[in-house]
Amino acid sequence: MEVRTIRFMRRGELVALSNVPPERTLLELLREDLGCTGTKEGCGEGDCGACTVVIGELDPGAAGGIRYRAINSCIRLAHSIDGMALWTVEDLAAPDGSLHPAQEAMVRCHGSQCGFCTPGFVMSLFGLYQSRVRRGAPITREQAQEALSGNLCRCTGYRPILDAARTMAELPAVAVDEPALVARLQQLARREPTPASAYLAPLDLAGLLAARSAHPHAQLVAGCTDVGLWVTKQHRQFPLVLDLTRVAELRGIALDADHLTIGAAVTLADAFDALVAHWPQLKTFTARFAGLPVRNSGTLGGNVANGSPIGDSMPLLIALRAQVVLASARGQRTLPLEDFYTGYRRNVLAADEVLAWIKVPRPPRAPAPDAGLLRAYKISKRYDDDISALCLVVDLRLADGMVADVSIGAGGVAATPARARRTEEALRGGPWTEAAAQRAAAALRAEFQPISDMRASAGYRRQVLGNLMQRFWLESQGLDHINLERVPPAAALDPLGSAP
Ligand code: FAD
Ligand code: FES
Ligand code: FES
Repeated sequence: MEVRTIRFMRRGELVALSNVPPERTLLELLREDLGCTGTKEGCGEGDCGACTVVIGELDPGAAGGIRYRAINSCIRLAHSIDGMALWTVEDLAAPDGSLHPAQEAMVRCHGSQCGFCTPGFVMSLFGLYQSRVRRGAPITREQAQEALSGNLCRCTGYRPILDAARTMAELPAVAVDEPALVARLQQLARREPTPASAYLAPLDLAGLLAARSAHPHAQLVAGCTDVGLWVTKQHRQFPLVLDLTRVAELRGIALDADHLTIGAAVTLADAFDALVAHWPQLKTFTARFAGLPVRNSGTLGGNVANGSPIGDSMPLLIALRAQVVLASARGQRTLPLEDFYTGYRRNVLAADEVLAWIKVPRPPRAPAPDAGLLRAYKISKRYDDDISALCLVVDLRLADGMVADVSIGAGGVAATPARARRTEEALRGGPWTEAAAQRAAAALRAEFQPISDMRASAGYRRQVLGNLMQRFWLESQGLDHINLERVPPAAALDPLGSAP
């Protein structure tokens, strides 16, 4: 099947490329097809940041009308930037050779030694520059750390690069000609999607569902931060790709009296911002999900649909009592997220269905201070940019010291993300006391049969499950920095780690 031409803006010019295979990555297109080798390849799997580039998308809600996102070009499909603007490290210096503030700051702060990681860092800094400095907003150390969370450097120890992030604003400003770019992108946006193409990117839900129904075997993709690794690591090819990220109805976050409804094409970064706005205590948990470039491409719908047993968003969404809305040309159906999975990476989706929205009940309005507690715990080997070995999320609702309701989501404990129903039963309706927490810890340890793998042993996972419930108890008593003396000696464990 023929494939549509990819058209995007770069250096103020339209780039039009035909016959690009649907599974061609943006990095392959840059390095091998366009000879732009400034963008490096390190890991090829979204982990090191060497391949970072910046895309610009029309966004009426963004200052200047353009949303800038640093992304990993190694796991991004080339066709997915059709209609966007692209910046690579070759595009930043002025025609007279003067450096962009992101580059100049790295030179002045000695942010580069061997230089292999430097193009990636400069592009993450450029994305930060466009999103903050150009909006007149200062850059804090935390924002710099978050912007650079997807970039690895083996030489500098990062401090000079963090210094560079904050130095950029002190240098003479360099602006993108946004009005001109917006006009060009609007022209591109008026393009009708070509119906017969090996890379389909419908613009509305009806088009997506018709395409899904006509081509159930097409590889459905969203941000490609899982699928991208099938291309780079397993060398899979897709005769037909169905990209849902342009579907208008799936790109928004709706708020009504009862729910936060997150479209399946909403990026993780935007979805997490929306969740943190309602539950500020989730900030750390969501910031530990991959690095920013992955969160800028990956979607919440993709995490849920990919269904990894150690996916991080699902234990959280299960504990928040989220529902998923599945859609096909035949209609829609809604079910609790914990009922979406049928086995290891298997779910209830019919061949012609897509996951359309995730509906999260809003938190109780102005709850009394002792009305409950939500905590999300991610246990992983590396603090940043690592996949969970174990994930537990507890949402406890109290009334006069009694457990009025509780929901518990867990990851890394079974073939699918799961709800800890038996543990919930052990708590519901009783007093919230240390003894109740101990019983819940024992119930958690008994409820799941985790496996041992390279991330953790079964015994470790079971032990930590109970420990996290004890931690939750301590935090419910205001002991956010655990005073370990209060934790009763862990029950003598048999070698398998289950409490007697
Ligand atoms: P895609 O890769 O586009 O799709 C994934 C799968 O879901 C495909 O099978 C696709 O067909 C299907 N799919 C996507 N959207 C839909 C839909 N709406 N309806 C039906 N099916 C759909 N995950 C974590 O949980 N925690 C982490 O810390 C984490 N760190 C990562 C770090 C790196 C470096 C990388 C590369 C990945 C990491 N991931 C992590 C995994 C991945 O980023 C997430 O699972 C992401 O949310 C996937 O979303 P996506 O849009 O990229 O999905
Ligand atoms: Fe390492 Fe892309 S090459 S993140
Ligand atoms: Fe060598 Fe960063 S300067 S890896």
